[in-house]
Amino acid sequence: MSKTKQKYSNPFTATVNGIRDLFRKKERVGELKPDDRLDGKKVLITGASSGLGLATAKELARRGAEVIMAVRSGIPEKGEEVKISSRSDKVKLLYVDLSDFDSIKNLVEKIKTDIGKIDILICNAAVVSKKVRRTKTGLEEMFTVNYLAKFYLVNLLLKEKMFNKQGKKIPRIIFVSSESHRNPERFEWDEFGVFKDYGMGKSVERYGYYKLLMTTFARELSRRLNTNRHPEFSVFALCPGPVNSNIAREAPAVFQPLLKLVFSIFFRSPGQASEPVVYLVASKDVEGKTNDYLFLMSRKPVDEKADDPENGKRLWHLTENLLIKHNINLT
Ligand SMILES: NC(=O)c1ccc[n+]([C@@H]2O[C@H](COP(=O)([O-])OP(=O)(O)OC[C@H]3O[C@@H](n4cnc5c(N)ncnc54)[C@H](OP(=O)(O)O)[C@@H]3O)[C@@H](O)[C@H]2O)c1
Repeated sequence: MSKTKQKYSNPFTATVNGIRDLFRKKERVGELKPDDRLDGKKVLITGASSGLGLATAKELARRGAEVIMAVRSGIPEKGEEVKISSRSDKVKLLYVDLSDFDSIKNLVEKIKTDIGKIDILICNAAVVSKKVRRTKTGLEEMFTVNYLAKFYLVNLLLKEKMFNKQGKKIPRIIFVSSESHRNPERFEWDEFGVFKDYGMGKSVERYGYYKLLMTTFARELSRRLNTNRHPEFSVFALCPGPVNSNIAREAPAVFQPLLKLVFSIFFRSPGQASEPVVYLVASKDVEGKTNDYLFLMSRKPVDEKADDPENGKRLWHLTENLLIKHNINLT
């Protein structure tokens, strides 16, 4: 395994290398400007009850967006927090548990009936489980929340024509990924979706693998949605760098004080870390573009495995079959 591949494969190297990455000099892709406003735009964001998602929701509401926070917890208090912080009342909360496909379906129904077409989707929610857990579908929870739910949500919204394309508008779909998507050496095609046991020692490695699946899906989605010369959808992904969030909430209690200390000293606040997300949502620089991947505020190629169209096709096909096998309808 190469050095790059090992960078984020366990909690210790992930933390140390995350901090080192922060201090490396990188060329900035651009700047967010005060007139990068979002008035009249509807933005749906998952995982907006905590960390990066909550901070992003506040900044988007401050920039005039109607923000729809799709959350599992924090109803109604996190919505109130966003309203107060942004001084905007264009904030709505909808419940979703991304480990439950019925719940995702209900979310899309609610969007249809109560919200209407959306301009921007941010797939932000993720979990790092301390050990393997089974969802009611029988699938693994981290695989479901961090990858499969995104495939399902995006495709349901597309099937229901819930993206606003009126007047040649180009909706944006943004995936919060992680540099850890570069860790895995290969795809586990033969065991796709198979429930496999793992403990805390392997959870960061599994997290990286699901980020690879998600980033590969983002690339394939962009290819499928943009068959013409001019993109009809902007599909972006990014890694926000190390964020002082609740992502390590399931780490053993004995490590919590140390982790909290390291996170609070070295990691960026969710507000600072939200800059690349807000840039991809609001900046005019990326209007009409697709496929950008940002690490912090720098453009970077995604891992070559994620970029390979053959892998994208294979992943799409296996994912559709897995959903069918579990009676999860995309209609
Ligand atoms: N923190 C980092 O250093 C770092 C680095 C690179 C990338 N990222 C990425 O940044 C994104 C945001 O993470 P964060 O750091 O802000 O962590 P966080 O504070 O733990 O936020 C995660 C969010 O995901 C939600 N979520 C988890 N499971 C869910 C489920 N089953 N259904 C619905 N929502 C669920 C959580 O909701 P609840 O509050 O209800 O649990 C929470 O709102 C993730 O995609 C993560 O992979 C983080």
